[in-house]
Order: sequence, then C-alpha cells, then structure tokens
Amino acid sequence: MSAKPTVFSGIQPSGNLHIGNYLGAIKNFAANQAQYHNYFCVVDHHAITLPQEPAALRQQTLELANAYLAAGLDPTEVTLFVQSHVSEHTEMGWMLNTFVYFGELKRMTQFKEKAGKRQEEVNVGIFDYPVLMAADIVLYDADFVPVGEDQRQHVELTRDIANRVNYRLGEGTLVVPEALIKKEGARIMGLDDPTKKMSKSATTPRNYIALLDDADTIRQKLRAAVTDSGADIRAGEDKPAVTNLLTIYSLFADVPVPVLEERYAGKGYADFKRDLTDVVIDSLAPFQARLRELDANPDYTAAVLKEGAERARAKASTVLTRVKGRMGYVLPFS
Ligand code: AMP
Ligand code: TRP
Repeated sequence: MSAKPTVFSGIQPSGNLHIGNYLGAIKNFAANQAQYHNYFCVVDHHAITLPQEPAALRQQTLELANAYLAAGLDPTEVTLFVQSHVSEHTEMGWMLNTFVYFGELKRMTQFKEKAGKRQEEVNVGIFDYPVLMAADIVLYDADFVPVGEDQRQHVELTRDIANRVNYRLGEGTLVVPEALIKKEGARIMGLDDPTKKMSKSATTPRNYIALLDDADTIRQKLRAAVTDSGADIRAGEDKPAVTNLLTIYSLFADVPVPVLEERYAGKGYADFKRDLTDVVIDSLAPFQARLRELDANPDYTAAVLKEGAERARAKASTVLTRVKGRMGYVLPFS
C-alpha cells in the first residue's frame, strides 16, 4: 500500500472543454500526480442529466479521456477510467440516497441555477446529481478532491454524507474527503461577461476558448474579449475583465500577476492582448499536438481505459462491500 494520499476527480464529457477546465482542473491534476494516488474519471452518467446526442456523447467521452492524457497524466501513475464502466458508482449512489435529505439537494446552488423557476419540471437526475458525485468520491477512499470553485458545495455535501454514514454504520466506514481548490484559476470567467464563469454550456462560443480552438479562433476571441473602463492593466475588484485576462496570462505563462502588472504599466490593451494571445496559442500548441496524436490512435486510449476500469473496479468493489456488509445486506454467495 502506498502512503500517498488519494485524490479523485471527474469531468463531464459534455460540451466543449475550455481553458477554464484546463487551468482550473486538468493542468493541476497532471502537475500534482506524483504526490498522490490518483483516480480520474470521465463522468458520463453525470453528462446524461442533460440530454446528449448519442454520437456526441461517445465522441466527447473519448475526447475527454485523450485530453487528460494530452495534459500529461501518466497512466502508470494514474487510474483513468469511464464512470459507467464501473457499475459500483450507481450502486453506491443508490445507497447514499438514503442518507441525503430532499431539502439539502434542493438548496444546492448548481441545482437552483440549472432548474431555475422550473424545479417541478426538471428531470430527477439533475436533482440527484450531487449524490452520484458523492458516490464517485467515497468509493475510492479519496482524501482530496481537486475541483474548481463551483464544485466546493458538492464536496461539502459529500463530507456531510460521509459523516452521516460513519455515524450510523461506524467510524471508518467512509473516508471524509476534502476539496482541493487552488486560489488562482479556480474560477476563470467568461470572455464575453466577466461576472459569469467560463462555461461549457455558454450560449455563445465567444464566452470561452475551447481547448481545440485553432490560432485564428483564439486570436479573434481574445480580440473580442470585453475589457473594463480605464486603460490600466491591473487586477482588482473594480476590474473583473482585466483581472480574468491577467489570471489566464499568469497561469499559462507561469508569471505572477504583479510581475505582469509591472510589465504592462503604461502600456495599452492592444499590447497586452497581443502578448496574451501569443501565450495562449503557444501554451496550447503542444497539448493540441498530443491530442491529435492520441485521436489518431484509438487503440491506445481503449487499452488505457480498460486497464483503468479494472483497477478502479478492484478498489470500488471493496468499499461497496464494506458498506453493504455494515448495512446488513446479505453479500453475494461465492
Ligand atoms: P465541468 O465542466 O462542470 O465538468 O467541470 C470540470 C472541472 O473543471 C471541475 O473541476 C470544475 O470545477 C472545473 N471548471 C469548470 N469551469 C471552470 C471555470 N470557469 N474556471 C475554473 N474551473 C472550472
Ligand atoms: N460535478 C462535477 C462537475 O460538474 C463533475 C464530477 C462528477 C466530479 N463526479 C465528481 C468532480 C467527483 C469531482 C469528484 O464539474
């Protein structure tokens, strides 16, 4: 057994992966993989809470697996798998449902945002989504869950559920996980509206830079990105748009924001945006090249996902059996 702490995280194979997913999540998974025992998952069961075109779901599932690999996740260091390949997830989700209150799920910010005024009409999967997420996490005895700021509340709920399970079934039944949220990049904002987070499901592609956008598209999108009133390039609450662009620049170039502020003192948006564009294009280029190689070699991805599912299942089934046994289920006869 390794003494390293365990991390688990998941991303939905829905919509277009963007630089918010990369800077807020995937890049950090890759950077920190050697410190942890890692599980990374393509959460297809979560994606179907909004209707998906079958062909698109299939393609996006494999594309996301390749994005994890292209970002530098090493399949010998990391267990990379597709959620639906490990049926323990839905089984554990069902059991955890009995430890969660209706009112708790109704209060989840993401549910309120997704359901809007039509709470009575949304599918129950959207409502129950955080419980499946809790199941994902506890099945691997995960200590840490690296995510963007938007998922903090769901990890808090997972902690509440795990504590409740431990209270009812005995200490040590489940590991109580902690969110791992970086200060910088945890919430990259929309290029068209810096008051809302960059989102896969944005109504216009001008909101985000997709991980597969070509150089011309990136150039156009950054040229069109909104800025704040006043000409100075500095971060601050009164400058949400420029702060966001500085954050993106800083994370891609690995240069602290104050250094950038100094570099652009007295210069205008044109200079700043031109350099930012180069940084984004140059930083994404090697990632995009690896992604194209992986796309051309589907057998490799399939082998990684097959082995990942086997390793994941081995761990998940022991945790599921632990919980079933303590609850009083008669375990399958062998
Ligand atoms: P999702 O796209 O909702 O499946 O999110 C996948 C991962 O990316 C999660 O860890 C999110 O918290 C993170 N993420 C999504 N959007 C952003 C954003 N705009 N800024 C930073 N992280 C994000
Ligand atoms: N709900 C997460 C999101 O939308 C995706 C997710 C599903 C997840 N299961 C998870 C993230 C488990 C971390 C751990 O971003």
